[in-house]
Order: sequence, then structure tokens, then C-alpha cells
Amino acid sequence: MTQRNLSLSKDKINILLLEGISDRATECFNAAGYHQVETVSSALPDDELAERIRDVHFLGIRSRTRVTERVLERAERLTAIGCYCIGTDQVDLAAAQRRGVPVFNAPYANTRSVAELVLAEIVMLMRGIPAKNAAAHRGEWLKSAQGSYEVRGKTLGIIGYGHIGSQLGILAEGLGLRVIYYDVVRKLPLGNAEPVDSQDEVLARADVVTLHVPDTESTRGLIDAAELARMKAGAHLINASRGKVVSIPALAGALASGHLAGAAIDVFPSEPASKNEEFVSELRAHDNVLLTPHIGGSTFEAQQNIAVDVSTKMTLYSDNGSSMGAVNFPEVNLPDHATARRILHIHRNEPGVLQAINHAFSEAGINIVGQYLQTLPDVGYVVMDVETDDAGPVLRRLHDIPATIRTRYLY
Ligand code: NAI
Repeated sequence: MTQRNLSLSKDKINILLLEGISDRATECFNAAGYHQVETVSSALPDDELAERIRDVHFLGIRSRTRVTERVLERAERLTAIGCYCIGTDQVDLAAAQRRGVPVFNAPYANTRSVAELVLAEIVMLMRGIPAKNAAAHRGEWLKSAQGSYEVRGKTLGIIGYGHIGSQLGILAEGLGLRVIYYDVVRKLPLGNAEPVDSQDEVLARADVVTLHVPDTESTRGLIDAAELARMKAGAHLINASRGKVVSIPALAGALASGHLAGAAIDVFPSEPASKNEEFVSELRAHDNVLLTPHIGGSTFEAQQNIAVDVSTKMTLYSDNGSSMGAVNFPEVNLPDHATARRILHIHRNEPGVLQAINHAFSEAGINIVGQYLQTLPDVGYVVMDVETDDAGPVLRRLHDIPATIRTRYLY
């Protein structure tokens, strides 16, 4: 098991950013005093990454780099991994945790991008634009006001009133929509939005229903034939959340019967892995469906926000030990350690570890002026602020505790 004491000056900390991560990330590291930043425009094959990671303290990746157990085995200096994207399944999170390496991501950096797209889709659907556009591409001229409505005064129903749902609600009110929402958790309404007691009430009252729930066991198949039947005749459905939330055959049925007037779908139960693969969906047959290739959050601004968000989390972890936003590691929010030295201790979460840590300090005769602890079932993270100029003896004792994974010393 890795046992390493990192107390390096910033000019010795190596940062490797892969996959063409926005230059904004390098700017963030530089502004925080980190100048050893190497950038690579592509992902690295396993073997090359395993070789290059030996000297890397902070690694930044997007979705194409696989950080496997084999890569981590060679990553002796690795202190944190930043996923400059939303998902983190490209990293072996458990293996990183076993080595005391937190993994950060940026789950909410593209909230605005999704909300704006959905807002535009509401207008497009209410005007029947998807079908008129498809017809015009075929040379047909569907010049008619039938089935075209202003959004002003209509009801938007939001299912899942989290980051995206609530921001969308505010934007939609600006266009004169009435906003109702349902969330499994009690959420404070923003603007004039009206919380309702059930999903069924949203389905029954809304002219446009939009889904902003996470992908969980309980949200898979959330909207199936029965739910679609509860929607108003002529209503529209938008899904820019996760593909398995809506049953596509049921939706195709509701469109074919004319019960729904249209839909906008950005996410699918099965999506092509690359642009070389064909997009297969029975929704392709329906002109009144706006189909987009999972780009709800894909904008220039979102990429910039992601760069700032993840880099800031990593520099904060490096500078003062705060681990907020880590997905596989105990989250600790630490104040600055102005005059005190700070010792960070990552350990396997076993009985007696804390006692052993405190014992190490009392044996070394060092007074702890602040202590912060957070644990997950398998790993613990304890941070101690101490008043000493000679932390060497206590660091050696901490290394000797069998459950120690690694320590860091900040001065
Ligand atoms: P969030 O976590 O802030 O909000 C989700 C909300 O859904 C929470 O308030 C939660 O309590 C609620 N919820 C959970 N189960 C529910 C249920 N059964 N019924 C009603 N409410 C329920 O998440 P955020 O950031 O707003 O994202 C929402 C969805 O959008 C996620 O699935 C995310 O993966 C997806 N997304 C899609 C993007 C795209 O490119 N299309 C980009 C970014 C996010």
C-alpha cells in the first residue's frame, strides 16, 4: 500500500492534462502558483499513461482516458484525479480510493446550457416547428397556424426540480409560462413556480412536461404508457435528463396515436458510441420529434466552467486539503491554516486508527490545535492543524500505523 509524505513546493508538483482540456484549466493552475502543467491534446493509450503517470501529482482527464488499477499501481505520486466532465466511470474509483486518491468532477457546470436548450425546445414544440422543418427539408410547405401556439400563459410541468429544473423554471417565467413542478424532495419554489403533490398532477395539468431527474433505479421507466396516457391530449414531452427515464416504444405509440403533439428527446436508452455509428431509434420515423444527440450540456461556456470548477477543486485540495466535491473520498471543508502547519492523514477505516493517530502526536509532544475527521465505510481522512516547526517525528510515527494509506504535510 502506498505510504507517501508529500510536502513539496508548488514548482515540484507535476500536472498532466489530457484530451485537450480547455486552456482555462492551465490558467487556473498558473494563477494558483502551479506552473508545471503539461497538456496533451488526445487520450493516452494504457501503456503510455502507465509510464507517464509515474511523476504526475495531479491528472486531468475527460471521458476517453481509462484510469485502471494497472495505471494506478504505477502512479506513486498521484495526489488527485480531475475528471473534466460529468461522469467518473472511466476511473476505477475503488482502486483510487484504496490509494487515497480523491477523484473530482464537475456535475453542475453545464446546468445553464441544458436549461437554455430546453427553453428553446418548448417554443419550437409549441409552434410545431420540428414537423414543419422536416417537411421543408423534403420540399413541402406547411404554412398553417393550426397546432401553433404562443408559450405565454401555458403551463410548463417540471419533474425533478434540482439544478436544471429550477433554473429552467426561472427562465420559462420570463417568457410568460406558468411553472408547476414535482420533486420527491421538498424544494423551495423559485420565482412564482408552484410545487404540486404528485407527478400525476404535473402530467394532468401541463401543456409541456420536461424531465430533469437523475438516472436511478426508481427513475428508470418513470414515463411509460400509463404516464403518457395521463398527459393532456396535444401536450408535449421533453427529456434531456437520462435515456432510460422514458420508454421510447411507449412514447412512439403516444405520438403515433396523436395523443401527444410532439416531443424533444436529447438522451436515449442506447446511444451511438461515436459519430461513425448509426443512431437507431423508432423516433426517427416521427417528424414531430426534435432529436438531438445528447448535447444538452455541450457548449463552449460549459467547457470553460468545467475547467474552472475541476481545477479549483484540485488546487484547493493541494493547497489546504479541502476535499469538497470528491466522488470517492471523504469530503472535508477546511478553513485556511494561516499560522498552523497542517498534517493530512488518509487511512483505512479500521477500529483504533484515531487512537493510534492521537497517540503518535502525544508521543511526539506535538499539540493539535484543530482536528477534522470524515470517513466513508472503507477510508478515513483526518486533518490536524499543529503548532510545530519540526513535524518529522510525528510523520514517521504516522507512517508506522498499519492502517495508514498516505500522509501529506502542508506548511
Ligand atoms: P440534480 O441532482 O440537481 O436534480 C435532480 C432532481 O431530481 C433532484 O431535486 C431530485 O430530488 C429529483 N428527483 C429524483 N428522483 C425523482 C423522481 N422520481 N421524481 C421527481 N423528482 C426526482 O440534477 P441536475 O443537475 O438538475 O440534472 C438533472 C438530470 O439532467 C440528470 O439526469 C443529469 O444526468 C441530466 N443532464 C443531462 C445533460 C445533457 O447533456 N442532456 C447535461 C447535464 C445533466
